[in-house]
Amino acid sequence: MAAKRGPTPRPGILDIAPYVPGTSALPGAGKVVKLSSNETPLGPSPKAVEAYLAEAAHLSRYPDGSAAPLREALADRYGLDVARIVCGAGSDELLNLLAAAYLGPGDEAIYSEHGFLVYKIAILAHGATPVVAPETDLTADVDAILARVSDATRMVFLANPNNPTGTYLPFDEIKRLHAGLPDDVILVLDAAYAEYVRANDYEAGIELVATTQNTVMTRTFSKIYGLAALRLGWAYCPAPIADALNRIRGPFNVTGPSIAAGIAALNDQPHMQEAVAHNTAWLGTMAEALTGIGLAVTPSAANFLLVHFPQSKSAQEADKFLHERRIILRRVGEYGFPDALRMTIGTEKENQAALEALTAFMGAGQ
Ligand SMILES: Cc1ncc(COP(=O)(O)O)c(C=O)c1O
Repeated sequence: MAAKRGPTPRPGILDIAPYVPGTSALPGAGKVVKLSSNETPLGPSPKAVEAYLAEAAHLSRYPDGSAAPLREALADRYGLDVARIVCGAGSDELLNLLAAAYLGPGDEAIYSEHGFLVYKIAILAHGATPVVAPETDLTADVDAILARVSDATRMVFLANPNNPTGTYLPFDEIKRLHAGLPDDVILVLDAAYAEYVRANDYEAGIELVATTQNTVMTRTFSKIYGLAALRLGWAYCPAPIADALNRIRGPFNVTGPSIAAGIAALNDQPHMQEAVAHNTAWLGTMAEALTGIGLAVTPSAANFLLVHFPQSKSAQEADKFLHERRIILRRVGEYGFPDALRMTIGTEKENQAALEALTAFMGAGQ
């Protein structure tokens, strides 16, 4: 009889480095300024909170299994085909469902050098091989991605704008990327930060999904809509891809309170616009101010800034210095940036607190 050794995960599972979320709490009492997870400083729409609370009266009932009321609200808002929208528990779930449906051992999937880490995990979790394309100026490089397409490539994941760099590709470049991919390779456009982008040459992906057979766009309610705790995302897909995802997703993968809150959030566009205006104003102000104290800031189209520290002042020391002042930014070493921290745009007070602390840090010992 074989020696007893208990259950073993599939090959490769234990080689996956788990996703480590940004720090969200510090030891000791007192409020923290948390600018580590790209959450909105304005919070959700009060109407979304109200809709969420009203659902408390129906907790014994299963939700609509296809999140139909939310899909209809999304279809109305964006002019989409409701049958091609799939909702999920955060866009993370949809990224994983795409990998589950289309990737397996022997397949390759490409993402860019500083791309969102969930892609690598989703690819490895399904036994496929991650292929990393180098970036140019901390921005995805279409030629580098296309150069890595092989007969085994099944998927390209691209966050646009990307986390943690904040850089984006204009629609012309996205179209060029799509045009260079074989028809059986899915281009996943992860547009988690789309609402924040103020650039005329940007398109989140709806047009390509509508006009091609192999583009999927993923979106989230976690960022500008302020519903991160509910775990709510959606994908707009070609019909056969929506069909595949619907076959393998959990039959009730989105909760009733999430559906209700999502609809109310979507219908409160003034609240969303306020979040955009706040972000646009502060993104520029903070980038300028941080540059002014000797930090290098990657130009961002999203709601966060990648802040690079000089050799004399390490990001690790800065992180410690900030924690002592109860301010949390995001360490980004695992994204290939040991010398940087990512700062989410917060409230006016939070931004000023972070700027003051960073100014003190940069000035200390000089
Ligand atoms: C680029 C990108 N995609 C997807 C997600 C996941 O968002 P969700 O909360 O919808 O799972 C994030 C969250 O940080 C992100 O930065």
